[in-house]
Amino acid sequence: MTVDTATQAAYIVSGLLFILALAGLSQHETAKAGSYFGIAGMAIALVATVALALDHDISRTNLGLILAATSVGGAIGLHRAKVVEMTGMPELIALLHSFVGLAAVLVGWNGFLLVERDRHSAEALSLGASGTLGIHHAEVFIGVFIGAVTFTGSIVAYLKLSARISSAPLVLPGKTALNAGALVAFAALTAWFCVDPQLWLLAAVTLLALLLGWHLVASIGGGDMPVVVSMLNSYSGWAAAASGFLLENDLLIITGALVGSSGAYLSYIMCKAMNRSFVSVITGGFGIEAGPRTDTDYGEHREVAADGVAELLSTARSVVITPGYGMAVAQAQYGVAELTRKLRDRGVQVRFGIHPVAGRLPGHMNVLLAEAKVPYDVVLEMDEINGDLAETDVVLVIGANDTVNPAAAEDPTSPIAGMPVLTVWNARDVVVFKRSMASGYAGVQNPLFFRENTSMLFGDAKDRVEDILRVL
Ligand code: TAP
Repeated sequence: MTVDTATQAAYIVSGLLFILALAGLSQHETAKAGSYFGIAGMAIALVATVALALDHDISRTNLGLILAATSVGGAIGLHRAKVVEMTGMPELIALLHSFVGLAAVLVGWNGFLLVERDRHSAEALSLGASGTLGIHHAEVFIGVFIGAVTFTGSIVAYLKLSARISSAPLVLPGKTALNAGALVAFAALTAWFCVDPQLWLLAAVTLLALLLGWHLVASIGGGDMPVVVSMLNSYSGWAAAASGFLLENDLLIITGALVGSSGAYLSYIMCKAMNRSFVSVITGGFGIEAGPRTDTDYGEHREVAADGVAELLSTARSVVITPGYGMAVAQAQYGVAELTRKLRDRGVQVRFGIHPVAGRLPGHMNVLLAEAKVPYDVVLEMDEINGDLAETDVVLVIGANDTVNPAAAEDPTSPIAGMPVLTVWNARDVVVFKRSMASGYAGVQNPLFFRENTSMLFGDAKDRVEDILRVL
């Protein structure tokens, strides 16, 4: 068996492992196995690719460069993944997407320059004769375009998520026309480049795409960033697939397509969860419109102490816990898991209601609860729990805010109007754990805090949960 055939076989195995990884990651029970499949797939892919390069007689220097780059990159990646806080995950992911975009741009440029260098070589002539040279140029152009959009788009997303620049949407006059114009210009330049490949055309499309990527994400408001990050994830997949075509690497095409389509599907699910139009997200056509500043007086809120909540819980038959970003900040999940065990031992029905965008990244709450060993079967999604909230005795809102805001359902002028939320206010009693009356991520006041059946338990969520455990 030649190294070429062995590599192809290894690529198929890797491709299958990546598919198993995605399938595994879609459920709590199998998520860990899914990660291992992914790691194994990537390890096989790397070894096979280096073996292939060795078989093609690469120089010792190049081999050294590959090994050095892989070790340095791997070490940095390992370190970053170890130290990143769960709450800093979205910005790290955005930054990593920018690398994929940059790699696609470099691969594209390299592909073009190599063919230019060998323009008169026999290989290039045979490509030209069979008409494949035009396809090659189209691959270069499209790869560079998607890569450059992903690169600057991800950098803006990173800067916004890490609060290095304002998360307010940039509103240039005729922003949709600008985006559409850039796409039309891209189509025209592609056709031109396929017929008459010139360096300045490639430089022009790179610049156009860098500006478009920047504008697309800059014009999106902070509240919609989760969808944007998952959309950029999808773009980075397509950029990798384009590089795969250029490098004639089947595994890169498969992997890119898997990332591209799963990212697009995730964005679609998140758009549905936030009641946003999927089409306007991919075309960068939306941004949070600054809604009218509501100074509505919702009246007085009621406060409760930990022993009051303990008393409420000791008479409850059914409890629903809706965690949010504050649970992650406070690292309250272990106390919450302990509280769940205590209540269940007393025969109380305890379930969790998870909003699809609770926290700061998809599945954020599920990961934290799984880490604290909360049984999977009591962790329900918003749609599964909402119908039962009216028959629930007590809802504990732990560090959640936007995801339980009744204004989304009841106030058409609210900036988050139309976003489906957990209808916790239908329960008999609601206790909100947070440190102050401050608003959540979307910066919108929450009328839930002023409802008759709501009590506020102020303080760090972890401390307050521990106080309740002590009383119980
Ligand atoms: P948020 O609306 O972000 O509210 C979290 C609340 O937690 C805050 O009001 C804060 O109030 C409280 N809090 C913070 N630290 C706390 C602590 N140590 N102890 C107790 N409470 C604490 O939370 P959410 O309901 O989870 O909503 C998520 C929001 O983030 C949505 O708007 C969503 O669109 C957005 N978003 C989501 C994602 C994804 S993919 N999940 C990504 C980016 C953005 P105090 O300051 O008064 O304590």
